[in-house]
Amino acid sequence: MCGIVGYIGEKQAAPILLDGLAKLEYRGYDSAGLAVYKDGAISVQKAVGKLVNLVNKTDGGASLDGTLGIGHTRWATHGKPNETNAHPHTGSRFSLVHNGIIENEAKLRRKYLKDTEFVSETDTEVIVRLLDKFTEGGEDVDVAIMHLIDVLEGSYALAIIDSLDGDRMYAVKNKSPLLIGKGEGFNMIGSDAMAMIAHTEWFYEIHDKEFAIVSRDGVEIFTSYSQKIDREPYKAELDLSDVSKGTYPFFTIKEIEEQPLVIRRVLKEYQDETGELYIPEEILKDLRECDKIYIIACGTSYHAGIVGKYFFENISDKPADSYVASEFVYNTPKLTEKPFFIFISQSGETADSRAVLVKIKKMGYKALTITNVKGSTLSREANHTLLLYAGPEIAVASTKAYTAQVAVLAILAAAVENKIGINLKYELAVVANTMEGLCSDSELYSDLAREYLQNTRNCFYIGRGIDYYVCLEAALKLKEISYIQTEGFAAGELKHGTIALIEEGTPVIAIITQNNIDLNTRSNIDEVNARGAKSLIISMRSVSSHGDQIVVGDVHEMLAPLVSVVPAQYLAYYASYQRGYDVDKPRNLAKSVTVE
Ligand code: M6R
Repeated sequence: MCGIVGYIGEKQAAPILLDGLAKLEYRGYDSAGLAVYKDGAISVQKAVGKLVNLVNKTDGGASLDGTLGIGHTRWATHGKPNETNAHPHTGSRFSLVHNGIIENEAKLRRKYLKDTEFVSETDTEVIVRLLDKFTEGGEDVDVAIMHLIDVLEGSYALAIIDSLDGDRMYAVKNKSPLLIGKGEGFNMIGSDAMAMIAHTEWFYEIHDKEFAIVSRDGVEIFTSYSQKIDREPYKAELDLSDVSKGTYPFFTIKEIEEQPLVIRRVLKEYQDETGELYIPEEILKDLRECDKIYIIACGTSYHAGIVGKYFFENISDKPADSYVASEFVYNTPKLTEKPFFIFISQSGETADSRAVLVKIKKMGYKALTITNVKGSTLSREANHTLLLYAGPEIAVASTKAYTAQVAVLAILAAAVENKIGINLKYELAVVANTMEGLCSDSELYSDLAREYLQNTRNCFYIGRGIDYYVCLEAALKLKEISYIQTEGFAAGELKHGTIALIEEGTPVIAIITQNNIDLNTRSNIDEVNARGAKSLIISMRSVSSHGDQIVVGDVHEMLAPLVSVVPAQYLAYYASYQRGYDVDKPRNLAKSVTVE
């Protein structure tokens, strides 16, 4: 989704802003822009498409002189991705960038801006016009910002500069993420710490409906009613090397290959001083006392959630279900008497999931967030948080966060009650080793992707039980980065309709890791083969057969998703790479989906 960077200091702002925007490219965008203040005027440059277009247009930022500025990458919601709709938006006095959606923009246009001529199709322009309006009688900017917070409904993270003031910029936030980077002789604003980590590792949080005045040597944070807030900065646990590709051609492959390390890190982080796996008692109490666990998530996190449901039911014997957040919020099922909610989100910022969290909190229920991002919205707003410790996930396609989510869910389920006596500390260590073995077979996956996926229009993943859950994730991975239309299917359900789509040469990939259903899935493979399918089998050694193309080493059956997903991630990666796509930034997608 959209990205924001702001800088005020002694150096030229534009190159720093462009560099910050480059760090946010992973979030997905379709246009970019900069606004820089100099001598009582603001200069704006925008470009559609990749950031490099803006870099070229501004000669790497050199053509925009000034030490105060804001930048933005836009993922279109209101209006087409063109230069007019790109941010920054500029009125008669202010220039601003915005992440989020203003829900009452039509009402605000009618009430305050009847005679205003708008140039863009965006909701953002309403904000800048309002700011002009609220200061036209000579009101102070901070008073106008408080007025703005009062009238705006929806989500917004704003960075604002004023053509009448070269010594400050403003940050305003509601629901959309925004941070202030604290420097020496400079300060920054960013929608994500990554945009600023090359310059500082110290950050201030801004909470909903707060605003900040950011100058070269200070940051002041206020409530929406002008009360100054005394807030200490915190040090980000982020390393610059975490956000660079190193020798890898794409973040996607780097992150796939980090998975053994991530599993080991999860194991380490969830051990107590005696070396036993540990989950805080207050979380376990809530989980043990509830009568059903409702897992809420989107996309890949939802796919981890359905594996989590399996763990709670099969390891802890606790009723659980996993729901797609965007459905749950408006089509809420009848809840049990004592529900407990688990939100799973890599970014911790997903608007659909947050909408459910807001709803269930209003209903008086408690929630735990499992996320990769400390201090993220879903983490702050839930009663408890468990972190994934996966390190920053930059590629749009989630890989290492999925396996970290599944591992944390297994640890959590076993901590609630370990009815099957699984030794997770040992079994997860086996998983990490097996993953390592899988990562040394990348040539095989590359060859298979070329053979099965290079020219196909569509593809099917089939499996049963927990393998079916992995098929859903494998299919999402393949379709989102290679654009091959792929469906994950319950193998037994195929013959009830979908088998009609099998033609000569249609790739059908089966995942087979479970002892009780391996023969059934193999029969389904025979059925599709008889209709011309080109089948590829990913099996676990204990249930493998001669001729299976990918055989993964044995792990505890319950943890099979952690290893069977790895070849599927590789196949998706190579299918995209071999087609010449930008694997890390698939079209139309954003890393952190902060609009509903
Ligand atoms: O940050 P979240 O885990 O809440 O994001 C949820 C989905 O948007 C995300 O998993 C998406 O499906 C990925 N592109 C999958 O690779």
